[in-house]
This record gives sequence, C-alpha cells and structure tokens, in this order.
Amino acid sequence: MANLNIDFCGVPFINPFILAAAPSTDDREMIARGFDAGWAGAVLKTTTLETEEVSIAYPIMSSINPGPNMVGLHNIDLVSERYIQEIAEDILWLKQRFPQHQVIASLMGHTCDDWKQLVSIAEQAGADLIEASISCPQGATLEGEEAQGFMVSQDPRLTEKVTRWAIEAVQQIPVYIKISPGVTDITSIARAVELGGARAICAIDSLEGVGGVDLKTFSPLPSVQGYSSRGGFTGKAIKPIALRCVADIAETVHIPISGVGGIYNWRDALEFMLLGATTVQVCTAVMQRGYGIIRDLTNGLSNWLDQAGYDHVQQIIGLSIPKLTEHDNLPHGVKVISYINHELCIGCGLCYVACADGGHVAILYGSDRKVEVDPQRCVGCGLCAQVCPVPDCISIELFS
Ligand SMILES: Cc1cc2nc3c(=O)[nH]c(=O)nc-3n(C[C@H](O)[C@H](O)[C@H](O)COP(=O)(O)O)c2cc1C
Repeated sequence: MANLNIDFCGVPFINPFILAAAPSTDDREMIARGFDAGWAGAVLKTTTLETEEVSIAYPIMSSINPGPNMVGLHNIDLVSERYIQEIAEDILWLKQRFPQHQVIASLMGHTCDDWKQLVSIAEQAGADLIEASISCPQGATLEGEEAQGFMVSQDPRLTEKVTRWAIEAVQQIPVYIKISPGVTDITSIARAVELGGARAICAIDSLEGVGGVDLKTFSPLPSVQGYSSRGGFTGKAIKPIALRCVADIAETVHIPISGVGGIYNWRDALEFMLLGATTVQVCTAVMQRGYGIIRDLTNGLSNWLDQAGYDHVQQIIGLSIPKLTEHDNLPHGVKVISYINHELCIGCGLCYVACADGGHVAILYGSDRKVEVDPQRCVGCGLCAQVCPVPDCISIELFS
C-alpha cells in the first residue's frame, strides 16, 4: 500500500486529510470522533479573545439545491462563540488523548497584542500548528488601520503586517495563514504571506455571497426574522475557484499549501494535490455526510497511488502545474468533434436543444428520436457531453 504520511511545515500527518475550521471542529468530543474515524488533524473553529463579543443569529444556513445533491452551502456563521481559554482546554484534552493527531488552533485578532495573547495561549495549551484566519467574510477591524468591513487578506500590506504579528508571537510551532479567494490577484496576497514569514498558506476560505431571496417575504437567505446578511458560500460549487487559487499560489511562492474548497471525495482531493496542495481540508462535505467520508478519502487515494505506481503521496504534489498554461500556448487548430454512442443514447434530445441554442447547431434530431452529429458544423465545444444525462454516452474525440 502506498504511504499516505505527509510532512506539513515540519509536522508529521498520518495522511493529508484535515478537518477544516467549521461547526464540525467546535466541540472536542466531535473532533475525537473525527480522529477515531481516521482524520489526521483538525483545525479547531476560529476563536478570539473574550473582549470580542461573538453572538450568532440563527438560522445560519441556506443552500443551492438543498438535499443529497446540494451544490453549495451558504452560511452567516461567525467565529466560535467559545473564546480562546475554552478552546485551549479542548486543545489540551485532545492532545492528551490523540498525541499522533495534529491539533491546529485557528485564531483571529485585531491588534498586535491580541495576536500575542491568542498565539501564546494556544501554543502553551499544546497546539501543533497555528492557522491565522485573516479571511473571515464578515470583515475585520484592525488597530491603526482602515480595515473595517473587509478582510485583512484582501490587502497585501495588511496581510504582511498581520502575518508578522502572528509570527512574532509564536515561540516554536509553525504558523500559517488562511486567505480569501475574494481578491483580484491572489498571488499578491500569497507573496505577502511568504514575505511576512509564514510557514504555509491555507486556501481558500468561503466566498462572500448572498444565499438567495425568499420570494414570498423578499427576505434574503438565510432569513433571520425577515433579514439576512452577506455570508460565506462553500461546497462543491467553489471547487474550480479553490483549485485555481491553489495553482496560482503554488506557481508563486515556495511555502506549502493546505488546499480547501469543495472537496467531497478522493478524486477531488487528488486534484488539489496535483495542483500543488500538500494537505487538504474538508468542511462542507463533512457537515453534509459525516466524518465517515475519511474512509473513501484514504482508501481511494491509496488505491489510486498503488495503481498509478507511486509509493508515496508526496510524489504527486504539483504534477499538474506544468500542464496549466496560458491560452495562447494551447494546441490550436486541432479538429475534434462530438461522438454519440447510439447504444447508450436514450433519445432525450437534451444535446440537440443545447447545441441548437447554445452551441453550433450541429446536432440533428429525427422524428425517430435519433441524434446525429453534423461533422461539418460540429467544432467539438463539448456542451452536448456536459448536458447528456447518460455517463460516457457522448465523447469529444479527434476527427477522423
Ligand atoms: C458553517 C461554516 C462555518 C465556518 N467557520 C469557519 C471558521 O470559523 N474559520 C475559518 O477559517 N473557516 C470557516 N469556514 C470555512 C471552511 O473552513 C472552509 O474554508 C470553506 O468552507 C471551504 O471548504 P468546503 O468547501 O470544504 O466547505 C466555515 C465554513 C462553514 C460552512
């Protein structure tokens, strides 16, 4: 069996899978169940000092396509309502019971002194790493700065400044920084994190959004007695954005990355690692399907590594990066077209409609419900294969 052990910032993890900061990590008994199930580490829900009043207004969740096939989860959660002293007790409790598992403290402060206190309490309690959260979509205030209402990690100068505060506060354990995708150029933020001396970067936090609107009451969602606020969007739908951020960061800095955003299964996790993530974190999938998904993650990754001929998971980190190139460098002028497997086709006509109104009017649909591709008109755009409800029925191949 391939070796799944991984080194992240000099800290050994039994596998690359970490529970991301979330309600799933705001209770030590819950985290203990996660560790028993096989998660290598947990980022405890972000905490702060008691001087910061945290009061959550419920309900906090809405989603796109609620139910088992949920596409994305939206929340107006805040940091933990439990402050650093209580979290420190959880860290101590977890480290006594799970010495081989990595307990990561997620912290958020507003002043240099806040960071000193937060980091030192977490470190003394036995945290293995610090994840400095400067990406909360609810925004932040910062001592001596006009940072009200936006995230620190939307500004390279503030990012470097707060990174230094967190780094200077720590004695021994590694500090890394979690950043937001809500920026024009994430590479400038990644550079600021590296310049500030952090040991790694975690990307991404949730995307700022509005969960929807109740069409009867006109209240944005989730509705708290008829009102809502801007919140964070997570889950399956954000995966392409998270992958792009991870790849951008991997191409820019030399420090390792903890990738997060839309990971549901081992294939998703593998994609993050191929684009440069050393560890991967999971939040929404665990909230929806439970800690038990770790079995799919570890078994799937391990089997894939065996079949692909890799002995160690470390060998695959970043292998896809050289294949992510500029559009000008792609092979242009190669004729590909759509091929329909008539044995699988159910004649639903969805490909016909999509091609007629969103493609190149290249699919013919007879009265016998038989679809045919016109090779002269088809450019191989791939839309038909994306809308077809039957797996592998339509493929895009070289025209011959
Ligand atoms: C309800 C909820 C609460 C969250 N709380 C925190 C938090 O306290 N600190 C933090 O850094 N990220 C928090 N996150 C963001 C996640 O850690 C993660 O970055 C994000 O959800 C993307 O990953 P996912 O698509 O696997 O959920 C929260 C996410 C959700 C859904």
